Amino acid sequence: MEQSFSQLVLDWYDRNKRVLSFRGTKDPYRVWLSEIMLQQTRTVTAEGYYERFLRRFPDVRSLAEAPEEEVLKLWEGLGYYSRARNLLKAARVVMEQYGSRFPADVSLLRRLPGVGPYTAAAVASIAFGLPEPAIDGNLTRVLARTQGIREDVTLPSVQKRLTDTARSLIPSDRPGDFNQALMDLGAGVCVPGTPECENCPLRDLCDARAAGDMEQLPLQPQKAPPKVIRLNVLILLWEDRVYLTPRKEGLLNGLYVFYLTEDAPSAALRRLHLSAHAGEAGNARHVFTHRVWEMKLYVCRVQSVPKELEPCFYTLDEMNALPVPTAMRAAKAVASDLLRGETPA
Ligand code: ADE
Repeated sequence: MEQSFSQLVLDWYDRNKRVLSFRGTKDPYRVWLSEIMLQQTRTVTAEGYYERFLRRFPDVRSLAEAPEEEVLKLWEGLGYYSRARNLLKAARVVMEQYGSRFPADVSLLRRLPGVGPYTAAAVASIAFGLPEPAIDGNLTRVLARTQGIREDVTLPSVQKRLTDTARSLIPSDRPGDFNQALMDLGAGVCVPGTPECENCPLRDLCDARAAGDMEQLPLQPQKAPPKVIRLNVLILLWEDRVYLTPRKEGLLNGLYVFYLTEDAPSAALRRLHLSAHAGEAGNARHVFTHRVWEMKLYVCRVQSVPKELEPCFYTLDEMNALPVPTAMRAAKAVASDLLRGETPA
């Protein structure tokens, strides 16, 4: 008898599943944490963060009680920091509204900050065994190819078709394994570009393989190129301290950055009532999803600072304890060297 889609997928998973530190638990807190981390992040990277995070915050209560800055510090380097801010908000909702227990209901899960359809379905299926398809990029690709879906997968109508299709295939006895099997299949076999069809358990029932257009699927519209922003990064040094300030903007909100300006360094220094020479200290570039920062670094040593600016200056140890985004890595390295006194300015 011809084996069903789900049986083929689960048999393959039982033989080929990846060993990942966040697997092997049904604790909703752990599943939720790992799924938030895994959005936009490679599994190998997420694993280290996951373990460190759990050592500090072993349960939802300990997380809910944490200050935001500490959560951001543990998230440092992972990017997409709104995930960390929403994580904390959601933990507080789970404590306050659900008495520390995550709701075993996909629509209630979706109401938590930062939890979209994918994450709600992943938690519902993996932690609670509910038959909810978790449609991420990997499932989208596997389903578009195997089911021959040749429409723009970013359209809501096509998203619905993908979800309905997955819902008709998901087995009620192992929904979490089914979702994770398709994630692993998409990550290792049914990869973007040229898939390894010879290793695929679904090769004989795959529509795209029969048609030979696997490499063209899934169909997606061209993305607009990210906008380039030119920024001057002023590394302001005063005695054994450096200026840092938490961002107020949406991008990197709450993370500490050096003085960022699109104006000339001299104009920025005047505005701050600081007298200093701005010495060039190299260039840096950071690519976000919709933005590229092209940065020019300047070192400015100041002899005195206005009283109201004094609290914005931090020692090396203090800087290292603050959440500083990867976009500031080059500037932070320059600041660290100077604060350590390795490179006299
Ligand atoms: N990516 C996101 N969630 C995942 C999971 N549970 N297993 C493997 N890859 C994933």
